[in-house]
Amino acid sequence: MDLGGKYIVFDGPDGSGKGTQIDRLKALIDAAGGRWTYAKDPGGTPIGERIRHILLGYDLSLMAPRCETLLFMASRAQLVAEIVRPALSEGRTVVGDRFISATCAYQVAAGFPREDIIALGRLAVEDTWPDLTLILDVPPELGFQRTGRTEKHQKGRGDAHGDQLNMFADAHVDAMERRPLEFHRRVRECFLALPEYYPGRVEIIDATRDANAVFSDVKKVLQRAFS
Ligand code: TYD
Repeated sequence: MDLGGKYIVFDGPDGSGKGTQIDRLKALIDAAGGRWTYAKDPGGTPIGERIRHILLGYDLSLMAPRCETLLFMASRAQLVAEIVRPALSEGRTVVGDRFISATCAYQVAAGFPREDIIALGRLAVEDTWPDLTLILDVPPELGFQRTGRTEKHQKGRGDAHGDQLNMFADAHVDAMERRPLEFHRRVRECFLALPEYYPGRVEIIDATRDANAVFSDVKKVLQRAFS
């Protein structure tokens, strides 16, 4: 299996365990003597981090859905130009943490037409679509349990006026908490619908199980896709 020059994205609902699987893939590539570049979306570049701040630091209910969607696209246009494309052209594996697939889930769940997201995506990244997108599937109830959001929600909001870092983290939780469970159910359905229309290969992985079982499926999918 040769992952050099491939763009592999992990995505899924909040609390899907993406971070753990990303770390394991990086370790697998290291063990095989490969080189990887991590691409965080939204963010991942100095300009992208500033856009991420705007997106996640404020109550999203105040932001027009078109503005939100365009900001996500702007952040990844920069990410692709500055990080993803150069890394791929050097033969590195790009390990992506979310991408256009997330906009197809969260912003489509918020009412945006999916065709428009794909068209905007083409404008933002041209032909730099992932070779493989792995969707780690969990129902929102379990995702919330894992991120502790249910508990926080019951206790009320965190301190949104603390230091810069905390404010960012808390404000982000707030922004997403205000969106009801029904919204997160739609997000999950939108992730599951991706293989029907997303450019590039999409595989759905059951992420309700423990991290070892999930990673064993990730490896199987990678074998199928790249050997
Ligand atoms: P982040 O702090 O990156 O969360 P995570 O660690 O779960 O990736 O915040 C990303 C949040 O923004 C997450 O709740 C999903 C949402 N999001 C969108 O709504 N649209 C998008 O296009 C992307 C990339 C993320």
